[in-house]
Amino acid sequence: MINKIKALLQEVENMKAANAEELEALRIKYLSKKGEISALMNDFRNVAADQKREVGQFLNQLKETTQNKINELKESFDNVQTGNDDIDLTRTAYPVELGTRHPLSLVKKEICDIFGRLGFSIAEGPEIEDDWHVFSSLNFAEDHPARDMQDTFFIQHNPDVLLRTHTSSVQTRVMETQQPPIRIICPGRVYRNEAISYRAHCFFHQVEALYVDKNVSFADLKQALLFFAKEMFGPETKIRLRPSYFPFTEPSVEVDVSCFECHGKGCPLCKHTGWIEVLGGGVVNRKVLENCSIDPDEYSGFAFGIGIERIAMLKYGINNIGLMFENNLQFLKQFHE
Ligand code: DAH
Repeated sequence: MINKIKALLQEVENMKAANAEELEALRIKYLSKKGEISALMNDFRNVAADQKREVGQFLNQLKETTQNKINELKESFDNVQTGNDDIDLTRTAYPVELGTRHPLSLVKKEICDIFGRLGFSIAEGPEIEDDWHVFSSLNFAEDHPARDMQDTFFIQHNPDVLLRTHTSSVQTRVMETQQPPIRIICPGRVYRNEAISYRAHCFFHQVEALYVDKNVSFADLKQALLFFAKEMFGPETKIRLRPSYFPFTEPSVEVDVSCFECHGKGCPLCKHTGWIEVLGGGVVNRKVLENCSIDPDEYSGFAFGIGIERIAMLKYGINNIGLMFENNLQFLKQFHE
């Protein structure tokens, strides 16, 4: 029995607890009614009379040491906790877990890299804008519905201070300060007063592209878009242009890519059409160039705008736009470069 007590004594002296729960588990293991020390106390009755004295001393020593050690550990936790409730100073700093890039950052970077290879450089503009840069300079008529309170967030009821509804505003900012050749890509956040659903949010992200130089034509737009589609969705990708309308481009197009899931055969992703709509663009309207003091008889250009969330959702099979903004680590950790 003495050997058993000695072994326990050794164990108790070395015991460690990382937190209050672990400490409580140790207390129960050794000191509770059904614990190891109580069991020894019960066995003590059967110890031969001539050994009772020696065994009793060891047993008392064990009990005392255990109690002291538990008090000591408890105190160390209490001290840490009174310092600052939120910081666990006993916790190891290792391993340091590395974060992952957000899916929107990954897609934004990919788009910027692709156009970077075509010689486009990055331009940025403010999120809080004025009417001129978001609407008037881009040839939006006075009564265009996009200017309406229903779509645009105005700040302080001032119709001239608003959150940009698209990154096309950066086109104007750049053309006002630079003469062609201009070749820019403008990533950024935009805001629209829309009902939030699984596919729409009141803010999201776009990348705007603008190319203005001598003799830039619709054919250049087509080639740039085809290059982008192949780089982004794979070398087999085809593009399809459908006529559309934007006040700032003429002609305007809506651009589809062949479905990268079924390669055009038809599947749920492309709603069995074989095509997926990815962006809008066109040849820069002469009036827009004029508004920015660029001579439309000398220069021409193309522009387009891509929704980053839309591409990310297609590419990664994300079915709810809200997931992008919830900071849910389980979701975010799935994305790697
Ligand atoms: N600004 C448009 C939007 O928010 C997208 C767009 C369409 C941008 C055509 C362009 C363009 O530059 O030429 O939906």
